[in-house]
Amino acid sequence: MSSADSRYTIVGATPEQQAAIDELASQFLLSDERLGAIIKEFRRRMEEGLAADGKVLKMIPSYVTRRPLGTETGTYFAIDLGGTNLRVLKVTFDGKGGAATEYQKFVLSEEAKNRTLFDFVAQSVDTFLEERNLRPTGQQPPMPMGLTFSYPVLQTSINSGTLVQWTKGLNVPGCVGRDVVRLLQDALLRLGLRVKIVALVNDTVGTLLSAAYRDPTAQMGIIFGTGTNAAYYEDVTSIAKWKGPSPSSGEMVLNMEWGAFDSDDFSYLPFTPHDIKLDRKSINPRKQAYEKMISGLYLGEIARNIILWLVDQRLLLEGRSSEILNAMWSIDTSYLSSGAVDTSPDLTEIQQVIEKTLNINNSTFVDRQIFKVVAILVGERAARLSAVGVVATLNKRPHLLNSPITVGIDGSMYEHYPYFHEILVETVSHFIPRESFENINFTLAKDGSGVGAAITAMLAATYDD
Ligand code: BGC
Repeated sequence: MSSADSRYTIVGATPEQQAAIDELASQFLLSDERLGAIIKEFRRRMEEGLAADGKVLKMIPSYVTRRPLGTETGTYFAIDLGGTNLRVLKVTFDGKGGAATEYQKFVLSEEAKNRTLFDFVAQSVDTFLEERNLRPTGQQPPMPMGLTFSYPVLQTSINSGTLVQWTKGLNVPGCVGRDVVRLLQDALLRLGLRVKIVALVNDTVGTLLSAAYRDPTAQMGIIFGTGTNAAYYEDVTSIAKWKGPSPSSGEMVLNMEWGAFDSDDFSYLPFTPHDIKLDRKSINPRKQAYEKMISGLYLGEIARNIILWLVDQRLLLEGRSSEILNAMWSIDTSYLSSGAVDTSPDLTEIQQVIEKTLNINNSTFVDRQIFKVVAILVGERAARLSAVGVVATLNKRPHLLNSPITVGIDGSMYEHYPYFHEILVETVSHFIPRESFENINFTLAKDGSGVGAAITAMLAATYDD
């Protein structure tokens, strides 16, 4: 596509400005052919990760080998540790696919994010139980809880696993290579809190399980949020590296850790100088390459790099910047979401962001149109690339698409980024035969990760394999 597409034509632009936009459009708009090549490589990487440990796509066995039936009842507790928030939940399952959730949210303090994470979590669990008069006494057995942990962990059992690396901004020293359940269990012990972590799941696994409780056809759980990743049910005979016992169900949920795709050689994803700049300055260079092009934590920063590239060539804002615009991470992805759909005649939403948030006076209409195009390009590339993982995974077990299946998706990008869902689904439809595609039901699995941990705690109570 080029500026022939009217969305990328800037009314009143100089030839130099339009040429720069055309250059960006040629970098950010990906043809189906290009996507097809990336899907092929993604699939190859999936196979590689199924065959052996230590590969780019980790394809981590979750030890979850069952599906909830939807008829289970009872009350279970869970801890959901995400990127910015921690939730402690009490979930009551109604036996008809529904769950009533009571939860308390705790915002992770900077100290918790950088140092005292597990003590902070233990303290929050204590607060939750204490305030509801649920704290187990010395005479009572420890209270079982599920833990959702949204970082890459190599599971060693249903309730243990070692942290591979931090992603998405958390950076607590001394945790990589250690069992995260042990670290939390020790922190709970320090508080004298009688809680036992009986299940450890990734947030994508939780999302899948909560979708499966409502809907027996759920096959895949995805997060498109601050970070990105997916989990799906795989045939155990296809997991060549799995040396454990074969479960009676014959299947196991795999946590793909797909955010790492292409991180080793940077050769398939459409890296632009703006992506490379972001990667270099991130806390995890040469890691999570796919995640950095798709997810909410990063899109604002890619846009900021593009904007500064234009400013420095005097093609935008007459070459003016501000202290805020010069600061890394100063453009929140939510500004892009609102900019991409600003249809007011003067682009007033964008004007607000430029003049109030970024503190740059007197933007012209051309400047604002350029902002809008940047927001559209960055978002559209993210949604199109998101389809890559979805297609590769669904095409891995094509026979499942002979009947209806559900894909549960959660995360701020999917829920809020304008047209993300539409572009994603449309792109997927280009790569899956029509009759199969019509069997796929993409649903928003809102807040599924925490409920999923409670389901795993429920399943763990009855595990025999
Ligand atoms: C983490 C995954 C997680 C995903 C979505 C990624 O950064 O590595 O474990 O599932 O974010 O939260």
